[in-house]
Amino acid sequence: MNTISTKIAIGYAHSKLILIGEHAVVYGQPAIAIPFPLTVRSVIEQSTGTIKIKSPHYTGPIDKMPIKLEGIEACIKATLDYLDRPVKDILIRLDSTIPLGRGLGSSAAIAIALVRSLFSYFGQSPSQKELSSLVQIAEIYAHGNPSGIDMAAIASDSPIWFQKGKEAKPLTAGAPLYIVVADTGRISDTHSAVEQVREKVLLDPINMQKSMKLIGNIAQEAKNVLSHGNSYLLGKLLDKNQEMLTNLGVTDDGLNRLIETARNTGALGAKLTGSGRGGCMIALAQNLEHGKVIADHLMKSGADKTWYYSTEKYESRIYTRQRSYRIDNTKHK
Ligand code: MEV
Repeated sequence: MNTISTKIAIGYAHSKLILIGEHAVVYGQPAIAIPFPLTVRSVIEQSTGTIKIKSPHYTGPIDKMPIKLEGIEACIKATLDYLDRPVKDILIRLDSTIPLGRGLGSSAAIAIALVRSLFSYFGQSPSQKELSSLVQIAEIYAHGNPSGIDMAAIASDSPIWFQKGKEAKPLTAGAPLYIVVADTGRISDTHSAVEQVREKVLLDPINMQKSMKLIGNIAQEAKNVLSHGNSYLLGKLLDKNQEMLTNLGVTDDGLNRLIETARNTGALGAKLTGSGRGGCMIALAQNLEHGKVIADHLMKSGADKTWYYSTEKYESRIYTRQRSYRIDNTKHK
């Protein structure tokens, strides 16, 4: 009897949420990000000829990828080059539960899962440094000049304290957080949001630098209350951060409506998360049941999708208008 064995390798990556400090982090201020249990899976299989990709966003040969995915193409080529392997003879299957372009780190998560799977296919495992420099290639295409927080948060299984140019530090929360996330259903273009803030900084450098510093101070306070498990104070800091993000001009009516709904439903605090101007908002609930109540209200207020989970149990549910179902959040690595 003949047996056919196909070489196969799998890499996973989870998504991320910025709890405090987006945008100011680009200007050197500290920020806090936490893992969000939506995942990307990259499966590498043996094949022949040109590399082919199968994904919900594109299926076909690597050299015909649409412009918006060219960072991924560059990352695949750079990884194979780094591993000293030819750019051929593999099939890449990508599955993701992370919506694209919503400030949840989908581009960094795809790149991290890809790099992990390619290393694994060739019997290796990337160091943190290798992962960073290869994923950075895709991130520059996606975001222009990213601070690096998305990549660091996605590469970490715990909350992180992040400052541009420095190594991310893991943070321990003194108590579980009950997080609710709502998607406006609209793309949040990080590149142009970061550019819009940059223009504001150029026009009014003194006041804008002050705003950035204030956001950095909020992150410092948040780090402290997070370690003491004081979700009530943490919620207040989320609200304060949202005020500052409003001053930076990156929130919009759709986000504000959802943030208001979450607060009116008893959220401890709420703000946009990621680059804003579309994308997602985040709220702190008092417990998992309360998270469900907030998520339901957010759906009624026009959210495209909501998720809620506890950072302790890593348990989450996705709510859509039609149905709800649980994410199987078995830890992959
Ligand atoms: C995007 O998730 C976070 C921003 O601060 C951009 C960055 O840090 O690269 C808006």
